[in-house]
Amino acid sequence: MLGGVLGPMLAQGVIARRPRMTALAQRRHLDDRADAILRRMRERYGAGPLRLRVPGRSVALLLDPDDVHRVLRDSPEPFAADTREKRGALGHFQPHGVLVSHGAVREERRRFAEAVLDTGHPVHRLAGTIGVTAREEAARCADLARVTGTLDWPAFAAAWRPMVRRIVLGDAAREDREVSDLLTALRGRANWSYLATRRPDRLRRLRRRLGAYVDAAEPGSLAGLVAAVPAPDRADRVDQIPQWLFAFDPAGMATFRALALLVAHPDVLARVPGDDGTLLRGAVLESVRLWPTTAVVLRDTTAPTRWGGATLPAGTALGVVSSFFHRDPATVPGADRFDPDRWSDGRADDGRTLLPFSAGPVVCPGRELVLLVAAEFLRALLGRATPALTDGPLDAARPLPHGLDPFGLRFAVPPDRPGDGRG
Ligand code: HEM
Repeated sequence: MLGGVLGPMLAQGVIARRPRMTALAQRRHLDDRADAILRRMRERYGAGPLRLRVPGRSVALLLDPDDVHRVLRDSPEPFAADTREKRGALGHFQPHGVLVSHGAVREERRRFAEAVLDTGHPVHRLAGTIGVTAREEAARCADLARVTGTLDWPAFAAAWRPMVRRIVLGDAAREDREVSDLLTALRGRANWSYLATRRPDRLRRLRRRLGAYVDAAEPGSLAGLVAAVPAPDRADRVDQIPQWLFAFDPAGMATFRALALLVAHPDVLARVPGDDGTLLRGAVLESVRLWPTTAVVLRDTTAPTRWGGATLPAGTALGVVSSFFHRDPATVPGADRFDPDRWSDGRADDGRTLLPFSAGPVVCPGRELVLLVAAEFLRALLGRATPALTDGPLDAARPLPHGLDPFGLRFAVPPDRPGDGRG
C-alpha cells in the first residue's frame, strides 16, 4: 500500500524531477494506480485519516475534503508546514526558506515573500516588465521551433529558464546558467533529503551569486524588490530566492502540459486569440489540477490531535495526495476532462477538493505570479507558431491519463502560419 502510493512519487523526484523515472511511471500507469489504491482504502476503511505503518514515523493520509480544509486552514499551527522531510530536503539549498520555518520567524519570512510576490493580486506590480520578458522569450522559442520544425521539452526549457532568471534576478542574469546549475545540483541532493551529504561550499557560492543580484537590484526584477522591501535580518531575504527560482521549474512543466492540452482541444484553442487571460490561466490551472506539481501537501502535527475516535500523536505527518482529490469522480464532475472554464465560472471554488496551489495561510504565495507568466508565455507562443502534438498520450475523446511526462511531449511546428509576423 505504502509503496504503491508514495513509491512512484518519491521515485519521480520530489524536489527535482527525474526524467527516466517520470517516463517509466507514465508507461506503467503508476500514478493511476496510486489514486486507485487510495480509493479502495477509503471504500474499505472509511474517510477518516488513513494511518500508515512507516518505521519510526507516525503518518496519516487525509481522505476527507473536510479534513483537508481543517488542516490547511489551521496551518501552520497546530499543523506545521515545516515537516521533518521538508527540512531534510530544503536544508541542502535553502535552510532559512519560509517553507522550512515555524513560529514568529516564519511569519516574517512569509510576509516578506508575499510582499515581493504580490500574493493575492492577480496583476503583479511588475506585470508590465514581466509580460514583455515572457513574450520576448516565448517569441524566440516559437521562431526557433518554426526553423527546426519541432518543439520538445529541451527547446521549451531553453526559453523558459532564461526568462525565469530575467524575471527573478534581472536581465543581467539571462545567460547565467551557472546559477541555475548550482541550484540544480543542490536540488538533486535534496531529493535524497537527510541521506545525501550537505555541500556548504556550493550553498555559500549560490548565496554569494544571489546576493550580488540583490545588490545590483535591477529595476523591474524581483531581486530589485528584494532589495527595496524592508524585512528584519532574520527573515534572510536572499535565502528566500532559491525557492522562487526552483518553483518556476515545475511551473514550466505545467505550462508545457497546458500547451499540450490546448493543442489537443481545438475548440478551446480557437478561443485563445480573443482571451483576456482568463482562459489561459484556466488552462494552466487545469494542467496543475490534472497533473499536480506538488504531489503531496505535507504537515506535521505540533500537539496530540483528537480525530474522530482516535488521537494522533504530536509529530504525526499528515499528507494530502492532491491528485486523489483532483480526480475524484464523486466530487469533481468531469474529473478526467480538460475544462478550463471551471476556474472562472465558480465550479472550482469549494476550497476543499481542487487545491493545486494549496489553500489557507500557507497557500502558494507565487500563485498569481505563475499564472500571469504562464498565460503571457502561452499567448505569445501560440501567436507566432502552430504546434501540433506528434507524440504523447493526449486524446480529447478519452479520459485524460493520470500522469503526463513533459519530457516525452513533442510538437511538430510548421514553418509558416496564416497571419505570420503577429504576436
Ligand atoms: C505551477 C507552479 C506552482 C505550483 C503548482 C505551486 C504550488 C505550491 C504548493 C502546493 C505549495 C505548498 C503549500 C502548502 O504547503 O500548503 C507551494 C508553496 C510555496 N510556493 Fe508555490 N507553486 C508553484 C510555483 C511557485 C513559484 C513560481 C513561486 C515563487 C515565485 C512559488 C512560491 C512558493 C513559496 C514561497 C511557497 C512556500 C509557502 C510557505 O511555506 O508559506 N511557487 N507552492
